[in-house]
Amino acid sequence: MFTVQSELNLTAEHECLIIGLFDQPQKFEGKLERIDKAFDGALTELVKNGDISAKPKAISKIHTFQKVGSKRFIFVGLGKEKEYTFDLLREALGAAFKQIQAAKMTEAAVYLDSLTAGSLDSIDAAHAVTESFALATYQFEGYKEKSNEPEKKIEHLFVYGSETDAEEIKASLTVGYAYGMGTNSARTLVNLPGNMLTATDMAEYAKELAGRYEFETEILEKEDMIKLGMGALLAVNQGSVEPPKMIVLKYQGKDEWEDVIGLVGKGITFDTGGYSIKPKDGIVGMKSDMGGAAAVLGAMEIIGELKPEQNVVAVIPSTDNMISGAALKPDDVITSMSGKTIEVLNTDAEGRLALADAVTYAKHHGANYLVDVATLTGGVIVALGTNTTGALTNNEALFEQILEASHEADEPVWQLPLFEKDKKRVRSSKIADLNNSPGREGHAIMGGAFVGEFAENTPWVHLDIAGTATTNQAYDLGPSGATGVMARTLALFVERFETLK
Ligand code: BES
Ligand code: ZN
Ligand code: ZN
Repeated sequence: MFTVQSELNLTAEHECLIIGLFDQPQKFEGKLERIDKAFDGALTELVKNGDISAKPKAISKIHTFQKVGSKRFIFVGLGKEKEYTFDLLREALGAAFKQIQAAKMTEAAVYLDSLTAGSLDSIDAAHAVTESFALATYQFEGYKEKSNEPEKKIEHLFVYGSETDAEEIKASLTVGYAYGMGTNSARTLVNLPGNMLTATDMAEYAKELAGRYEFETEILEKEDMIKLGMGALLAVNQGSVEPPKMIVLKYQGKDEWEDVIGLVGKGITFDTGGYSIKPKDGIVGMKSDMGGAAAVLGAMEIIGELKPEQNVVAVIPSTDNMISGAALKPDDVITSMSGKTIEVLNTDAEGRLALADAVTYAKHHGANYLVDVATLTGGVIVALGTNTTGALTNNEALFEQILEASHEADEPVWQLPLFEKDKKRVRSSKIADLNNSPGREGHAIMGGAFVGEFAENTPWVHLDIAGTATTNQAYDLGPSGATGVMARTLALFVERFETLK
Protein backbone atom coordinates (compact mmCIF):
# COMPACT_ATOMS: atom_id res chain seq x y z
CA MET A 1 0.00 0.00 0.00
CA PHE A 2 2.71 2.54 0.94
CA THR A 3 6.37 2.72 0.00
CA VAL A 4 8.66 5.28 1.60
CA GLN A 5 11.89 6.50 0.01
CA SER A 6 14.15 9.08 1.52
CA GLU A 7 15.41 10.76 -1.65
CA LEU A 8 13.16 12.24 -4.30
CA ASN A 9 13.81 10.24 -7.42
CA LEU A 10 12.69 12.27 -10.42
CA THR A 11 13.42 9.48 -12.86
CA ALA A 12 11.14 6.97 -11.10
CA GLU A 13 8.07 6.22 -13.20
CA HIS A 14 4.75 7.22 -11.64
CA GLU A 15 1.34 8.13 -12.97
CA CYS A 16 1.62 11.36 -11.01
CA LEU A 17 3.73 13.13 -8.43
CA ILE A 18 1.93 15.30 -5.86
CA ILE A 19 3.84 18.46 -4.99
CA GLY A 20 2.84 21.09 -2.44
CA LEU A 21 3.20 24.71 -3.50
CA PHE A 22 3.29 27.73 -1.20
CA ASP A 23 2.28 31.19 -2.30
CA GLN A 24 4.85 32.96 -0.17
CA PRO A 25 7.81 32.78 -0.02
CA GLN A 26 8.25 32.43 -3.73
CA LYS A 27 7.73 29.15 -5.47
CA PHE A 28 10.50 27.15 -7.05
CA GLU A 29 13.31 27.84 -4.68
CA GLY A 30 14.80 25.56 -2.06
CA LYS A 31 13.03 22.21 -2.04
CA LEU A 32 11.40 22.70 -5.42
CA GLU A 33 14.41 24.06 -7.30
CA ARG A 34 15.37 20.65 -8.66
CA ILE A 35 11.91 20.14 -10.08
CA ASP A 36 11.88 23.48 -11.88
CA LYS A 37 15.40 22.86 -13.21
CA ALA A 38 14.23 19.64 -14.86
CA PHE A 39 11.95 21.91 -16.89
CA ASP A 40 14.53 24.61 -17.52
CA GLY A 41 12.55 27.05 -15.42
CA ALA A 42 9.33 26.55 -17.37
CA LEU A 43 7.32 25.82 -14.18
CA THR A 44 8.14 29.26 -12.82
CA GLU A 45 6.66 30.64 -16.05
CA LEU A 46 3.50 28.57 -15.63
CA VAL A 47 3.04 29.96 -12.12
CA LYS A 48 3.49 33.51 -13.43
CA ASN A 49 0.88 32.89 -16.11
CA GLY A 50 -1.51 31.41 -13.58
CA ASP A 51 -1.48 27.91 -15.09
CA ILE A 52 -0.15 26.60 -11.79
CA SER A 53 -1.77 28.08 -8.68
CA ALA A 54 -0.55 28.13 -5.08
CA LYS A 55 -3.91 29.39 -3.78
CA PRO A 56 -5.19 27.28 -0.87
CA LYS A 57 -6.56 23.98 -2.18
CA ALA A 58 -6.02 24.85 -5.86
CA ILE A 59 -5.10 21.71 -7.84
CA SER A 60 -3.03 22.16 -11.02
CA LYS A 61 -2.36 19.15 -13.23
CA ILE A 62 0.65 19.48 -15.53
CA HIS A 63 1.77 16.88 -18.06
CA THR A 64 5.54 16.35 -17.91
CA PHE A 65 6.13 15.19 -21.49
CA GLN A 66 8.76 12.65 -20.41
CA LYS A 67 11.08 15.24 -18.92
CA VAL A 68 10.86 13.24 -15.67
CA GLY A 69 9.70 9.74 -14.73
CA SER A 70 6.27 10.86 -13.52
CA LYS A 71 3.68 11.33 -16.23
CA ARG A 72 2.11 14.27 -14.44
CA PHE A 73 2.78 16.71 -11.69
CA ILE A 74 -0.18 17.46 -9.44
CA PHE A 75 0.52 20.79 -7.77
CA VAL A 76 -1.44 21.30 -4.56
CA GLY A 77 -1.90 24.93 -3.51
CA LEU A 78 -1.03 25.45 0.15
CA GLY A 79 -1.44 29.24 0.37
CA LYS A 80 0.80 31.44 2.45
CA GLU A 81 3.35 29.63 4.60
CA LYS A 82 2.44 31.82 7.58
CA GLU A 83 -1.21 30.76 7.39
CA TYR A 84 -0.49 27.08 6.77
CA THR A 85 -2.36 24.55 8.95
CA PHE A 86 -2.76 20.79 9.22
CA ASP A 87 -6.48 21.14 8.40
CA LEU A 88 -5.70 23.00 5.18
CA LEU A 89 -3.15 20.36 4.15
CA ARG A 90 -5.62 17.54 4.80
CA GLU A 91 -8.33 19.22 2.72
CA ALA A 92 -5.97 20.26 -0.08
CA LEU A 93 -4.67 16.70 -0.37
CA GLY A 94 -8.26 15.45 -0.27
CA ALA A 95 -9.09 17.65 -3.26
CA ALA A 96 -6.01 16.28 -5.08
CA PHE A 97 -6.81 12.63 -4.36
CA LYS A 98 -10.39 13.12 -5.57
CA GLN A 99 -9.10 14.40 -8.91
CA ILE A 100 -6.50 11.65 -9.18
CA GLN A 101 -9.15 9.02 -8.59
CA ALA A 102 -11.54 10.65 -11.06
CA ALA A 103 -8.72 10.53 -13.65
CA LYS A 104 -8.58 6.73 -13.06
CA MET A 105 -4.95 6.62 -11.93
CA THR A 106 -4.02 3.54 -9.95
CA GLU A 107 -0.97 4.84 -8.11
CA ALA A 108 0.44 8.16 -7.01
CA ALA A 109 3.68 9.51 -5.61
CA VAL A 110 3.91 12.27 -3.00
CA TYR A 111 6.85 14.60 -2.44
CA LEU A 112 6.49 14.85 1.33
CA ASP A 113 9.21 17.49 1.80
CA SER A 114 7.14 19.94 -0.25
CA LEU A 115 4.32 19.69 2.32
CA THR A 116 6.30 20.66 5.42
CA ALA A 117 6.64 24.21 6.74
CA GLY A 118 6.95 25.84 10.14
CA SER A 119 5.90 23.45 12.88
CA LEU A 120 4.19 21.07 10.45
CA ASP A 121 6.80 18.33 9.96
CA SER A 122 7.05 15.16 7.85
CA ILE A 123 5.32 13.11 10.53
CA ASP A 124 2.28 15.42 10.44
CA ALA A 125 2.37 15.56 6.66
CA ALA A 126 2.55 11.76 6.36
CA HIS A 127 -0.51 11.44 8.63
CA ALA A 128 -2.36 14.00 6.49
CA VAL A 129 -1.46 12.14 3.28
CA THR A 130 -2.98 8.79 4.24
CA GLU A 131 -5.90 10.13 6.27
CA SER A 132 -6.99 12.42 3.43
CA PHE A 133 -6.35 9.67 0.89
CA ALA A 134 -8.66 7.25 2.71
CA LEU A 135 -11.35 9.87 3.43
CA ALA A 136 -11.41 11.61 0.05
CA THR A 137 -11.54 8.47 -2.09
CA TYR A 138 -14.36 6.82 -0.08
CA GLN A 139 -17.52 5.79 -1.94
CA PHE A 140 -20.49 3.79 -0.69
CA GLU A 141 -20.84 0.84 -3.04
CA GLY A 142 -24.64 1.00 -3.20
CA TYR A 143 -26.99 -1.42 -4.90
CA LYS A 144 -27.02 -0.38 -8.54
CA GLU A 145 -26.36 -2.88 -11.29
CA LYS A 146 -23.12 -0.98 -11.74
CA SER A 147 -21.48 -0.21 -8.37
CA ASN A 148 -21.00 3.41 -7.29
CA GLU A 149 -17.42 2.60 -6.46
CA PRO A 150 -14.83 3.83 -8.97
CA GLU A 151 -13.72 1.30 -11.61
CA LYS A 152 -10.12 2.06 -10.82
CA LYS A 153 -8.74 2.83 -7.40
CA ILE A 154 -5.42 4.17 -6.24
CA GLU A 155 -3.75 1.03 -4.95
CA HIS A 156 -0.30 2.29 -4.06
CA LEU A 157 1.24 5.46 -2.66
CA PHE A 158 4.96 6.19 -3.05
CA VAL A 159 6.13 8.71 -0.52
CA TYR A 160 9.41 10.60 -0.89
CA GLY A 161 10.52 12.15 2.38
CA SER A 162 14.09 13.10 3.30
CA GLU A 163 13.46 15.13 6.44
CA THR A 164 12.69 12.26 8.83
CA ASP A 165 13.61 8.62 9.21
CA ALA A 166 11.71 6.45 6.70
CA GLU A 167 10.45 4.09 9.40
CA GLU A 168 8.92 6.97 11.34
CA ILE A 169 7.26 8.26 8.21
CA LYS A 170 5.88 4.82 7.51
CA ALA A 171 4.50 4.56 11.05
CA SER A 172 2.75 7.89 10.64
CA LEU A 173 1.32 6.84 7.27
CA THR A 174 -0.14 3.79 9.00
CA VAL A 175 -1.70 5.89 11.77
CA GLY A 176 -3.28 8.35 9.33
CA TYR A 177 -4.63 5.48 7.27
CA ALA A 178 -6.18 3.87 10.36
CA TYR A 179 -7.97 7.13 11.20
CA GLY A 180 -9.29 7.43 7.67
CA MET A 181 -10.39 3.82 7.31
CA GLY A 182 -12.11 3.70 10.73
CA THR A 183 -14.09 6.77 9.70
CA ASN A 184 -14.98 5.13 6.40
CA SER A 185 -16.32 2.07 8.23
CA ALA A 186 -18.54 4.41 10.27
CA ARG A 187 -19.72 6.04 7.04
CA THR A 188 -20.64 2.70 5.51
CA LEU A 189 -22.66 1.65 8.57
CA VAL A 190 -24.62 4.92 8.40
CA ASN A 191 -25.14 4.65 4.64
CA LEU A 192 -26.61 1.15 4.94
CA PRO A 193 -30.43 1.24 4.70
CA GLY A 194 -32.51 0.04 7.65
CA ASN A 195 -33.37 -3.24 5.98
CA MET A 196 -29.69 -3.98 5.36
CA LEU A 197 -28.52 -3.08 8.86
CA THR A 198 -30.81 -4.35 11.61
CA ALA A 199 -29.76 -4.51 15.27
CA THR A 200 -28.83 -8.15 14.61
CA ASP A 201 -26.64 -7.12 11.68
CA MET A 202 -24.98 -4.44 13.78
CA ALA A 203 -24.24 -7.01 16.51
CA GLU A 204 -22.74 -9.34 13.87
CA TYR A 205 -20.58 -6.49 12.59
CA ALA A 206 -19.42 -5.68 16.12
CA LYS A 207 -18.52 -9.34 16.71
CA GLU A 208 -16.52 -9.43 13.50
CA LEU A 209 -14.69 -6.25 14.55
CA ALA A 210 -14.03 -7.72 17.98
CA GLY A 211 -12.59 -10.86 16.40
CA ARG A 212 -10.21 -8.79 14.29
CA TYR A 213 -8.84 -6.84 17.27
CA GLU A 214 -9.36 -9.29 20.13
CA PHE A 215 -11.91 -7.17 21.96
CA GLU A 216 -13.97 -8.87 24.61
CA THR A 217 -17.60 -8.94 23.40
CA GLU A 218 -20.96 -9.22 25.07
CA ILE A 219 -24.22 -9.11 23.14
CA LEU A 220 -27.32 -8.90 25.31
CA GLU A 221 -30.43 -10.51 23.87
CA LYS A 222 -34.00 -9.48 24.67
CA GLU A 223 -34.24 -12.12 27.45
CA ASP A 224 -31.05 -10.79 29.05
CA MET A 225 -32.46 -7.27 28.93
CA ILE A 226 -35.66 -8.40 30.60
CA LYS A 227 -33.61 -10.03 33.38
CA LEU A 228 -31.52 -6.88 33.82
CA GLY A 229 -34.61 -4.66 33.82
CA MET A 230 -33.65 -2.62 30.77
CA GLY A 231 -37.19 -1.30 30.47
CA ALA A 232 -36.19 1.80 28.52
CA LEU A 233 -34.42 0.09 25.62
CA LEU A 234 -37.09 -2.64 25.61
CA ALA A 235 -39.82 0.00 25.40
CA VAL A 236 -38.32 1.42 22.21
CA ASN A 237 -38.14 -2.08 20.72
CA GLN A 238 -41.70 -3.02 21.75
CA GLY A 239 -43.31 -2.27 18.38
CA SER A 240 -40.69 -4.05 16.31
CA VAL A 241 -40.40 -7.53 14.82
CA GLU A 242 -36.59 -7.15 14.93
CA PRO A 243 -34.98 -8.24 18.21
CA PRO A 244 -33.04 -5.56 20.11
CA LYS A 245 -29.34 -5.92 20.94
CA MET A 246 -27.19 -4.33 23.58
CA ILE A 247 -23.70 -4.50 22.14
CA VAL A 248 -20.67 -4.30 24.44
CA LEU A 249 -17.04 -4.27 23.31
CA LYS A 250 -14.14 -4.05 25.74
CA TYR A 251 -10.64 -2.95 24.88
CA GLN A 252 -8.12 -3.28 27.71
CA GLY A 253 -4.88 -1.40 27.07
CA LYS A 254 -3.81 -1.18 30.73
CA ASP A 255 -2.83 -3.94 33.14
CA GLU A 256 -5.81 -3.26 35.40
CA TRP A 257 -9.42 -2.58 34.46
CA GLU A 258 -9.45 0.93 35.90
CA ASP A 259 -9.85 4.49 34.53
CA VAL A 260 -12.32 3.05 32.06
CA ILE A 261 -13.66 5.27 29.29
CA GLY A 262 -17.25 4.41 28.35
CA LEU A 263 -18.22 5.23 24.76
CA VAL A 264 -21.97 5.00 24.29
CA GLY A 265 -23.52 5.31 20.81
CA LYS A 266 -27.19 5.59 19.85
CA GLY A 267 -27.92 2.66 17.57
CA ILE A 268 -31.46 3.21 16.28
CA THR A 269 -31.31 1.45 12.91
CA PHE A 270 -34.47 3.23 11.73
CA ASP A 271 -36.55 5.85 13.52
CA THR A 272 -40.17 6.12 12.38
CA GLY A 273 -40.97 8.17 15.47
CA GLY A 274 -43.29 5.45 16.72
CA TYR A 275 -46.87 6.58 17.51
CA SER A 276 -45.55 10.16 17.67
CA ILE A 277 -44.91 9.40 14.03
CA LYS A 278 -42.65 11.52 11.87
CA PRO A 279 -44.12 13.34 8.86
CA LYS A 280 -43.37 11.75 5.48
CA ASP A 281 -40.56 14.19 4.72
CA GLY A 282 -38.98 13.91 8.16
CA ILE A 283 -38.87 10.12 8.13
CA VAL A 284 -36.66 9.84 5.04
CA GLY A 285 -33.04 9.59 6.07
CA MET A 286 -33.79 8.05 9.46
CA LYS A 287 -31.58 5.07 8.56
CA SER A 288 -28.84 7.39 9.85
CA ASP A 289 -30.20 7.27 13.40
CA MET A 290 -27.41 4.88 14.35
CA GLY A 291 -24.74 7.48 13.56
CA GLY A 292 -23.62 7.52 17.20
CA ALA A 293 -23.17 3.74 17.19
CA ALA A 294 -21.24 4.02 13.92
CA ALA A 295 -18.93 6.68 15.38
CA VAL A 296 -18.22 4.46 18.39
CA LEU A 297 -17.57 1.39 16.21
CA GLY A 298 -15.38 3.44 13.87
CA ALA A 299 -13.41 4.73 16.87
CA MET A 300 -13.06 1.17 18.20
CA GLU A 301 -11.59 0.12 14.84
CA ILE A 302 -9.00 2.91 15.08
CA ILE A 303 -8.31 1.96 18.70
CA GLY A 304 -7.92 -1.69 17.68
CA GLU A 305 -5.39 -0.69 15.03
CA LEU A 306 -3.36 1.68 17.21
CA LYS A 307 -3.65 -0.07 20.58
CA PRO A 308 -3.32 2.91 22.96
CA GLU A 309 -2.62 2.33 26.66
CA GLN A 310 -6.21 3.03 27.69
CA ASN A 311 -9.23 1.05 28.81
CA VAL A 312 -12.41 1.45 26.79
CA VAL A 313 -15.86 -0.06 27.03
CA ALA A 314 -18.13 0.61 24.07
CA VAL A 315 -21.86 0.21 24.66
CA ILE A 316 -24.40 0.36 21.85
CA PRO A 317 -28.13 0.01 22.43
CA SER A 318 -29.63 -1.07 19.13
CA THR A 319 -33.16 -1.46 17.80
CA ASP A 320 -35.43 0.22 15.31
CA ASN A 321 -38.32 2.43 16.47
CA MET A 322 -41.47 1.00 14.92
CA ILE A 323 -45.25 0.97 15.22
CA SER A 324 -47.52 -2.01 15.89
CA GLY A 325 -50.29 -3.06 18.27
CA ALA A 326 -47.58 -3.81 20.82
CA ALA A 327 -45.68 -0.54 20.43
CA LEU A 328 -44.91 1.99 23.12
CA LYS A 329 -47.52 4.76 23.37
CA PRO A 330 -47.41 8.35 24.51
CA ASP A 331 -48.46 8.53 28.19
CA ASP A 332 -46.90 5.13 28.96
CA VAL A 333 -44.70 4.96 32.02
CA ILE A 334 -41.64 2.70 31.86
CA THR A 335 -38.90 1.69 34.31
CA SER A 336 -35.28 2.01 33.25
CA MET A 337 -32.46 -0.26 34.41
CA SER A 338 -31.35 2.43 36.84
CA GLY A 339 -34.71 2.15 38.60
CA LYS A 340 -35.76 5.63 37.48
CA THR A 341 -39.25 5.69 36.00
CA ILE A 342 -39.98 7.63 32.81
CA GLU A 343 -43.23 9.11 31.54
CA VAL A 344 -43.14 8.85 27.76
CA LEU A 345 -44.68 11.98 26.31
CA ASN A 346 -43.23 11.49 22.85
CA THR A 347 -42.27 8.12 21.35
CA ASP A 348 -40.04 9.99 18.87
CA ALA A 349 -37.74 10.93 21.75
CA GLU A 350 -36.61 7.29 21.73
CA GLY A 351 -32.86 7.83 21.53
CA ARG A 352 -32.61 9.12 25.08
CA LEU A 353 -34.56 6.06 26.29
CA ALA A 354 -32.15 3.66 24.59
CA LEU A 355 -29.17 5.68 25.85
CA ALA A 356 -30.50 5.72 29.41
CA ASP A 357 -30.06 1.96 29.82
CA ALA A 358 -26.81 1.96 27.83
CA VAL A 359 -25.27 4.61 30.09
CA THR A 360 -26.35 2.65 33.16
CA TYR A 361 -24.92 -0.53 31.66
CA ALA A 362 -21.61 1.17 30.77
CA LYS A 363 -21.29 2.08 34.44
CA HIS A 364 -22.01 -1.54 35.37
CA HIS A 365 -19.02 -2.46 33.20
CA GLY A 366 -16.86 -0.11 35.18
CA ALA A 367 -16.94 3.06 33.07
CA ASN A 368 -15.44 5.92 35.13
CA TYR A 369 -15.84 8.43 32.31
CA LEU A 370 -18.68 8.60 29.83
CA VAL A 371 -19.04 10.02 26.36
CA ASP A 372 -22.32 9.45 24.57
CA VAL A 373 -22.75 10.17 20.87
CA ALA A 374 -26.18 10.36 19.28
CA THR A 375 -28.25 11.69 16.41
CA LEU A 376 -30.51 12.85 19.20
CA THR A 377 -32.45 15.98 18.29
CA GLY A 378 -33.63 18.09 15.40
CA GLY A 379 -33.19 20.89 17.90
CA VAL A 380 -29.41 20.78 17.64
CA ILE A 381 -29.71 21.47 13.90
CA VAL A 382 -31.88 24.51 14.62
CA ALA A 383 -29.36 25.70 17.21
CA LEU A 384 -26.03 24.99 15.48
CA GLY A 385 -26.66 24.04 11.85
CA THR A 386 -25.11 21.09 10.07
CA ASN A 387 -21.43 21.85 10.53
CA THR A 388 -21.20 21.72 14.31
CA THR A 389 -21.83 18.97 16.82
CA GLY A 390 -23.63 20.10 19.99
CA ALA A 391 -22.24 19.14 23.38
CA LEU A 392 -23.37 19.07 27.01
CA THR A 393 -21.31 18.07 30.02
CA ASN A 394 -21.29 17.72 33.78
CA ASN A 395 -17.49 18.03 33.83
CA GLU A 396 -15.64 20.90 32.14
CA ALA A 397 -12.22 19.22 32.38
CA LEU A 398 -13.46 16.13 30.53
CA PHE A 399 -15.19 18.31 27.96
CA GLU A 400 -11.90 20.18 27.42
CA GLN A 401 -10.26 16.91 26.39
CA ILE A 402 -13.08 16.17 23.92
CA LEU A 403 -12.79 19.69 22.54
CA GLU A 404 -9.04 19.35 21.98
CA ALA A 405 -9.52 16.07 20.15
CA SER A 406 -12.26 17.62 18.01
CA HIS A 407 -9.93 20.47 17.04
CA GLU A 408 -7.27 18.01 15.99
CA ALA A 409 -9.79 16.03 13.94
CA ASP A 410 -11.29 19.24 12.55
CA GLU A 411 -14.76 18.15 13.65
CA PRO A 412 -16.27 21.28 15.24
CA VAL A 413 -17.99 20.89 18.62
CA TRP A 414 -19.86 23.62 20.50
CA GLN A 415 -21.02 23.39 24.09
CA LEU A 416 -24.62 24.17 25.04
CA PRO A 417 -25.54 25.16 28.60
CA LEU A 418 -26.94 22.77 31.17
CA PHE A 419 -28.27 24.64 34.20
CA GLU A 420 -30.19 23.35 37.21
CA LYS A 421 -33.41 24.78 35.78
CA ASP A 422 -32.87 22.77 32.60
CA LYS A 423 -32.45 19.62 34.66
CA LYS A 424 -35.67 20.44 36.49
CA ARG A 425 -37.60 20.30 33.25
CA VAL A 426 -36.71 16.66 32.58
CA ARG A 427 -37.75 15.92 36.17
CA SER A 428 -41.11 17.67 35.82
CA SER A 429 -43.40 14.64 35.36
CA LYS A 430 -46.18 14.46 37.96
CA ILE A 431 -46.29 10.66 37.93
CA ALA A 432 -42.73 9.50 37.14
CA ASP A 433 -39.15 10.46 37.98
CA LEU A 434 -38.48 11.82 34.50
CA ASN A 435 -40.32 12.74 31.35
CA ASN A 436 -38.76 12.18 27.95
CA SER A 437 -40.04 15.31 26.22
CA PRO A 438 -40.44 18.54 28.17
CA GLY A 439 -41.44 20.59 25.11
CA ARG A 440 -39.68 22.16 22.16
CA GLU A 441 -37.94 25.04 23.94
CA GLY A 442 -34.23 24.24 23.96
CA HIS A 443 -34.95 20.63 23.17
CA ALA A 444 -31.36 19.79 22.18
CA ILE A 445 -30.52 20.64 25.79
CA MET A 446 -33.45 18.56 27.08
CA GLY A 447 -32.26 15.49 25.16
CA GLY A 448 -28.80 15.72 26.67
CA ALA A 449 -30.09 16.65 30.10
CA PHE A 450 -32.18 13.48 30.10
CA VAL A 451 -29.15 11.30 29.33
CA GLY A 452 -27.19 13.16 32.02
CA GLU A 453 -29.70 11.96 34.63
CA PHE A 454 -28.32 8.47 34.07
CA ALA A 455 -24.65 9.51 34.02
CA GLU A 456 -25.33 10.97 37.50
CA ASN A 457 -21.98 11.90 39.09
CA THR A 458 -19.77 10.13 36.58
CA PRO A 459 -17.89 12.68 34.44
CA TRP A 460 -19.81 12.76 31.19
CA VAL A 461 -19.91 14.48 27.82
CA HIS A 462 -22.87 14.28 25.47
CA LEU A 463 -22.39 14.80 21.71
CA ASP A 464 -25.47 15.44 19.57
CA ILE A 465 -24.57 14.68 15.94
CA ALA A 466 -28.07 14.94 14.41
CA GLY A 467 -26.81 17.77 12.19
CA THR A 468 -23.33 16.47 11.43
CA ALA A 469 -23.70 12.72 10.86
CA THR A 470 -24.76 13.22 7.26
CA THR A 471 -24.34 15.89 4.60
CA ASN A 472 -26.14 16.47 1.31
CA GLN A 473 -23.08 18.09 -0.24
CA ALA A 474 -19.83 16.37 -1.31
CA TYR A 475 -16.71 17.98 0.22
CA ASP A 476 -12.92 17.72 -0.10
CA LEU A 477 -12.71 14.81 2.33
CA GLY A 478 -15.75 12.83 1.30
CA PRO A 479 -18.88 12.36 -0.79
CA SER A 480 -22.42 13.37 0.20
CA GLY A 481 -24.13 11.00 2.64
CA ALA A 482 -22.64 9.80 5.90
CA THR A 483 -19.66 11.75 7.25
CA GLY A 484 -18.45 9.30 9.91
CA VAL A 485 -18.31 12.31 12.21
CA MET A 486 -16.84 11.80 15.72
CA ALA A 487 -15.12 8.49 14.92
CA ARG A 488 -11.78 10.32 14.67
CA THR A 489 -12.54 12.71 17.54
CA LEU A 490 -13.40 9.81 19.86
CA ALA A 491 -10.32 7.82 18.87
CA LEU A 492 -8.05 10.86 19.35
CA PHE A 493 -9.72 11.57 22.67
CA VAL A 494 -9.02 8.01 23.81
CA GLU A 495 -5.41 8.09 22.54
CA ARG A 496 -4.64 11.35 24.34
CA PHE A 497 -6.84 10.75 27.40
CA GLU A 498 -5.51 11.79 30.79
CA THR A 499 -7.36 10.79 33.95
CA LEU A 500 -8.97 13.66 35.82
CA LYS A 501 -7.50 14.65 39.17
N1 BES B 1 -33.59 10.73 15.44
C1 BES B 1 -34.26 11.92 15.81
C2 BES B 1 -33.40 13.17 15.71
C3 BES B 1 -32.94 13.57 14.34
C4 BES B 1 -33.60 14.55 13.64
C5 BES B 1 -31.80 13.02 13.79
C6 BES B 1 -33.16 14.94 12.39
C7 BES B 1 -31.35 13.40 12.55
C8 BES B 1 -32.02 14.36 11.85
C9 BES B 1 -34.75 11.81 17.25
O1 BES B 1 -35.06 10.55 17.70
C10 BES B 1 -36.00 12.64 17.35
O2 BES B 1 -36.92 12.34 16.67
N2 BES B 1 -35.96 13.66 18.18
C11 BES B 1 -37.04 14.51 18.36
C12 BES B 1 -37.13 14.79 19.84
C13 BES B 1 -38.40 15.47 20.25
C14 BES B 1 -39.56 14.57 20.00
C15 BES B 1 -38.30 15.83 21.71
C16 BES B 1 -36.81 15.79 17.59
O3 BES B 1 -35.67 16.27 17.56
O4 BES B 1 -37.74 16.32 17.01
ZN1 ZN C 1 -37.02 9.93 17.27
ZN1 ZN D 1 -34.01 8.98 16.79
